[in-house]
Amino acid sequence: MNILGIETSCDETACAIVQDGRRVLSSVVYTQIPLHQPWGGVVPEVASRAHVEKISGIVREAMGCGEPIDAVAVTYGPGLASSLLVGLNAAKGLAMALGVPLIGVNHIEAHLHTPFLVDSSDGANAPAPEDVVPALGLVVSGGHTTWLEMPRYGEYKILGQTLDDAAGEAFDKAAKLLGLGYPGGPVIDRWAKGYWNGVEDFSRADALKALAYPPDVKVHDPMPRFPSGRPRAGTAALAGLDAELCVSFSGLKTALLYHVKKQPPRDDREKAMLVAAYQEAIVGTLADRTRTALSRRDYRALVVGGGVSLNGRLRMKLAEVAAEMRVPLLLAAPKYCGDNAAMIAGLAFYRRSPFGDAAMLVDVDPTLQPGGAG
Ligand code: KG4
Ligand code: ZN
Repeated sequence: MNILGIETSCDETACAIVQDGRRVLSSVVYTQIPLHQPWGGVVPEVASRAHVEKISGIVREAMGCGEPIDAVAVTYGPGLASSLLVGLNAAKGLAMALGVPLIGVNHIEAHLHTPFLVDSSDGANAPAPEDVVPALGLVVSGGHTTWLEMPRYGEYKILGQTLDDAAGEAFDKAAKLLGLGYPGGPVIDRWAKGYWNGVEDFSRADALKALAYPPDVKVHDPMPRFPSGRPRAGTAALAGLDAELCVSFSGLKTALLYHVKKQPPRDDREKAMLVAAYQEAIVGTLADRTRTALSRRDYRALVVGGGVSLNGRLRMKLAEVAAEMRVPLLLAAPKYCGDNAAMIAGLAFYRRSPFGDAAMLVDVDPTLQPGGAG
């Protein structure tokens, strides 16, 4: 069964065709990052206009592989309302024109499908989703930081989440504060890597990118110690969730702001030291909550998705935690970590709700939570 997926929830216009939920036949992603760069963040009006301009061409390009389409899937939330609308309307029109059913997909749940996607050329060894449940899922992106339990594939229960900023937002805000550009995650990852490798010249992005993190990364004097983002138990914002499985990143950003005001970095090496310490705080916090969640139940896998899972230090730390807790770690291929439509088309094969006529009646839901009716 070939499903065509459409994704427009934020600043990527994407379309893909996926066979039987796993095999990616085509995947096209147009990223709007250059359009938003001058503002240091996503501007909703700019995003929706760019989706409108790009969506037809992107869908046509994805359909260029010539494969027959059996259903159309689309992200209907969460995300920016005006951006979601463009994708949802395009998908409704396409499903009607092709005479095939429409399937609504939750963007957060779809990120957790990315480790199961395979290209025609590889992936023979990738496990099947139904073979790794119950699984613990972690979605870390610009909009979300959420731990979910997947008791069966296609079923989701939120265990913990951020009470304020998402991990990606924490990276982006720090980079903005230090004048490192947008998006902040990739730059901070590179500068931190440079710092840990003793680099003096931070002007060559490709040289920094080619480096690897040394195995013995440890925050040392005179690096600042940033807060671990542990919410106080009983805080109303927890809304019934366990404080041990939740994070708060807003204090971290404030701590960085105060530190920079008091002690502005004198050169790039000092700036790199700051972001390396800041990254260790975020990554350490994410790893700590993941370890706690894994200790609560016997999971058969730790499944991770979202743009922040591209972070080299996070990948290392999660591998350490997974090894310690004796659970396989399933990460997406780098091209499927950020927003894409293959994850939408892929998950739709396993979780067809809302489906068909019900999906045709669906409206966008900017605050859609994972784990709705399935
Ligand atoms: O999943 P994604 O493409 O979009 C959302 O659904 O939000 O994630 C984008 C986020 C941005 O905040 C970006 O700074 C972050 O992912 N990101 C990274 C890295 N690459 C992208 N964060 C840390 N390290 C990276 N290497
Ligand atoms: Zn996303």
